[in-house]
Amino acid sequence: MELQNSKKILHDALVGGYGVGAFNFVNMEMVKCILDTAEAKKSPVIIQCSTGAIKYAGADTLVAMARAYTKNMTVPVCLNLDHGKTYEDCKNAIDAGFTNVMIDASSLPYEQNIELTKRVVEYAHARNVTVEAEIGVLAGVEDEISASDEDAKYTNPQEAYNFVQATGVDSLAIAIGTSHGPVKFKGEPHLRFDILDEVHKLLPDFPIVLHGASSIPQDMVKLAVEYGAKLDNAKGVPDDLLKKACSMAVCKVNTDSDLRISFTAGLRKYLSQNPDSIDLRKYNGAGMELISQVVGDKMDNVFCSSNKAN
Ligand code: G3H
Ligand code: 13P
Ligand code: ZN
Repeated sequence: MELQNSKKILHDALVGGYGVGAFNFVNMEMVKCILDTAEAKKSPVIIQCSTGAIKYAGADTLVAMARAYTKNMTVPVCLNLDHGKTYEDCKNAIDAGFTNVMIDASSLPYEQNIELTKRVVEYAHARNVTVEAEIGVLAGVEDEISASDEDAKYTNPQEAYNFVQATGVDSLAIAIGTSHGPVKFKGEPHLRFDILDEVHKLLPDFPIVLHGASSIPQDMVKLAVEYGAKLDNAKGVPDDLLKKACSMAVCKVNTDSDLRISFTAGLRKYLSQNPDSIDLRKYNGAGMELISQVVGDKMDNVFCSSNKAN
């Protein structure tokens, strides 16, 4: 099957009340085990590359790998540019063959975010590529935020509504309390479901994206640490909160850190137990096995996207 834009994948998820995993990859090992798992689970899937991944591996190479592995697949697959920062980032990705792009102008003033997003939408839609944008701030747990700033970092539902009308964007990432990386919460994990609910009421047919949605599985953290990793205070979004978000309007669940941690755990364990191994297929394979396990568990039990590919 050819790579698809996100329109039908996210629409089906919204109507069906499930989420679609958007998994980051930077190399053959990651993309192969994500896609093999999606096919085995009969789950739609989004694979995505950051601008850093593109710098690392090259856009043409990443697109070629995605196309080669999806050629004989039966489930829908979308290839997304994750966190494009400029018009050129998005244009280059579209020209290379990405089928969805994210323009992340959330750090710009609201009006400038609208202007830049509109320009990207115009270029993308003329080429059958869909666009994700973002409003609100995904503050890291270590970011200093004063009490008065506390509300400002979350997405304002009315602004989200106005933004979607003004830009014609296809999906929107909102800030409801998640953040990127392995340390997401100091205390009890908490998401602002009231904001998600409000956005959904204003935009009932519109798919919402959750960034910073890794759950940081503690068994993987423990394994990685047992074999020498340093992952202090690693804490993610609990599965029950992710599951609830997917049953509401969250259709795309951005997940990167969980794959990094599980691959690292498998690799470290293998190399530690097989110090004489110099076979990349063996130790990379051990990392891939754990990524597949984590991705499969999410599809089955958290996003509930298994058997939803039609
Ligand atoms: O949202 C960020 C993703 O995890 C990508 O991270 O820029 O280090 O590739 P990266
Ligand atoms: P995590 O760091 O929680 O995996 O978030 C990934 C992400 O949002 C990619 O855009
Ligand atoms: Zn993100």
